[in-house]
Amino acid sequence: MPRDKAARCRTSSPVASAMPLLFLLVMVAAAAAATPSPPVPRTAEVQAEVDALLAFRAALRDPYAAMAGWDAASPSAPCSWRGVACAPGGTGRVVELQLPRLRLAGPLSPALASLRHLQKLSLRSNALSGAIPPALARLASLRAVFLQDNALSGPIPPSFLANLTALEAFDVSANLLSGPVPAALPPGLKYLDLSSNAFSGTIPAGAGASATRLQHFNLSFNRLRGTVPASLGALQDLHYLWLDGNLLEGTIPSALANCSALLHLSLQGNALRGILPAAVASIPSLQILSVSRNLLSGAIPAAAFGGERNSSLRILQLGDNQFSMVDVPGGLGKGLQVVDLGGNKLGGPFPTWLVEAQGLTVLNLSGNAFTGDLPAAVGQLTSLQELRLGGNALTGTVPPEIGRCGALQVLVLEENSFSGEVPAALGGLRRLREVYLGGNSFSGQIPAALGNLSWLETLSVPKNRLTGGLPNELFLLGNLTFLDLSDNKLAAAFRRPLAAC
Ligand SMILES: *[C@@H]1O[C@H](CO)[C@@H](O)[C@H](O)[C@H]1NC(C)=O
Ligand SMILES: *[C@@H]1O[C@H](CO)[C@@H](O)[C@H](O)[C@H]1NC(C)=O
Ligand SMILES: *[C@@H]1O[C@H](CO)[C@@H](O)[C@H](O)[C@H]1NC(C)=O
Ligand SMILES: *[C@@H]1O[C@H](CO)[C@@H](O)[C@H](O)[C@H]1NC(C)=O
Ligand SMILES: *[C@@H]1O[C@H](CO)[C@@H](O)[C@H](O)[C@H]1NC(C)=O
Ligand SMILES: *[C@@H]1O[C@H](CO)[C@@H](O)[C@H](O)[C@H]1NC(C)=O
Ligand SMILES: *[C@@H]1O[C@H](CO)[C@@H](O)[C@H](O)[C@H]1NC(C)=O
Repeated sequence: MPRDKAARCRTSSPVASAMPLLFLLVMVAAAAAATPSPPVPRTAEVQAEVDALLAFRAALRDPYAAMAGWDAASPSAPCSWRGVACAPGGTGRVVELQLPRLRLAGPLSPALASLRHLQKLSLRSNALSGAIPPALARLASLRAVFLQDNALSGPIPPSFLANLTALEAFDVSANLLSGPVPAALPPGLKYLDLSSNAFSGTIPAGAGASATRLQHFNLSFNRLRGTVPASLGALQDLHYLWLDGNLLEGTIPSALANCSALLHLSLQGNALRGILPAAVASIPSLQILSVSRNLLSGAIPAAAFGGERNSSLRILQLGDNQFSMVDVPGGLGKGLQVVDLGGNKLGGPFPTWLVEAQGLTVLNLSGNAFTGDLPAAVGQLTSLQELRLGGNALTGTVPPEIGRCGALQVLVLEENSFSGEVPAALGGLRRLREVYLGGNSFSGQIPAALGNLSWLETLSVPKNRLTGGLPNELFLLGNLTFLDLSDNKLAAAFRRPLAAC
């Protein structure tokens, strides 16, 4: 191309003045320097790779014309083509094909199997459909495959992954793939993401044995049955284990505690039973432990709260299980930020010991059977943004110390047996956005101080014993879009306007 342009410039030179010609030549030289695409000797091997890429293009719709510039006649083809990278040395060996996020639609051509030196294939976030061509298993140099977020369907051919002996990363998440999870994996595999597909069958017990260097293993949101294999405990480098949203049964194997590098363990939304093994909760590197929405029961081990062990735990999600007890820990993890114990069978007094977790931002105890008072010590939770205590059997007045929780945005106290007045101290919590106090026995008037809450969006206080009128200040709250004061004993004058809103 540059040569053609230069030639045209020269032929037009007799009629052009000297200055623009010089300018044009400088431009051409600059363009050539910006894309140094040395010619590639068109050996039979290079011709085969050019043909393979053209076959790949021919199978696809390319609405952004991303591959329109793929010119087979160019002396630097295919190394100068968009999305294509060649090995250094000018031999023309294609090592990378990367065309993400271009709405490429259609099947993946089996001709890609001719790119014998390919190391990286990234076609993620397109609209690729059809099957993964089994022929790609011949790509012995392939190290990384990113095909996530497409519409590929059908199974991963058996032995496909195992044959890709150089493979380190394989991501086909968010496709329509089905069939079994491959049992044999290449030995150097570090990153495997098959999440958000329709894979079925069981998690192969051999996965831990064949790919012992796995760091990232994500099988979330498939249709996997059976148990969590204890053999996963062999994965000493594992950082992320995500098995959420499957149909897994049985217990959480204590052997997972052997995964001493684990950062995130996420098993939410399955049908796991039995206890949460203390040894698993005690993995020192663990930052996120998420086992919500299962059938786990028994006592929550003290280790789940960090304990004395200098734990790294930040997020603890145990909600919607059948836990009936908490082993009170001797200490709390310093980094503890989120504690969700909602929707269990926990009872007894409010776990006052939790207020020692001063970095806590979310505390969810909703949907349990906690009894007694909300202690004044709750005011020590100065980082708390969400306090959810709905659906328990808490009694007494809400302590004014709650006004010290200056970071609070969401306060849920509904469906308890709180009495006394709505604390005026809430008016000092400037960041409050949502307040749910319904289904208690609050009496007295709605405090005028709530009119200070300029961020307030939701104020829900139905089914109480409130009397008096609605403070004018509330009408000035520009963000308030939901106000429910039904089933109270408010002054008659307020009933009609309220029914209208
Ligand atoms: C994997 O390699 C074996 C042995 O070379 C071969 O029989 C099998 O067909 C290969 N699998 C795929 C999917 O190409
Ligand atoms: C695992 O997959 C799910 C669903 O695709 C995704 O939301 C989640 O972020 C993934 N986890 C990790 C650690 O990549
Ligand atoms: C876990 O570690 C223990 C002791 O180190 C060992 O006996 C056991 O076999 C390991 N389990 C797995 C599944 O790796
Ligand atoms: C706790 O962890 C920190 C940083 O991870 C480390 O510096 C410290 O020595 C540990 N303390 C104990 C008692 O293990
Ligand atoms: C809190 O727990 C309740 C009861 O299980 C649940 O419905 C709700 O989604 C949880 N909310 C948060 C933010 O964790
Ligand atoms: C809130 O509003 C009330 C009356 O509307 C006012 O007396 C009080 O000083 C305000 N400030 C706080 C922090 O409640
Ligand atoms: C609404 O809330 C936002 C914060 O979410 C705040 O910045 C804004 O001032 C509020 N608007 C009014 C009218 O008070």
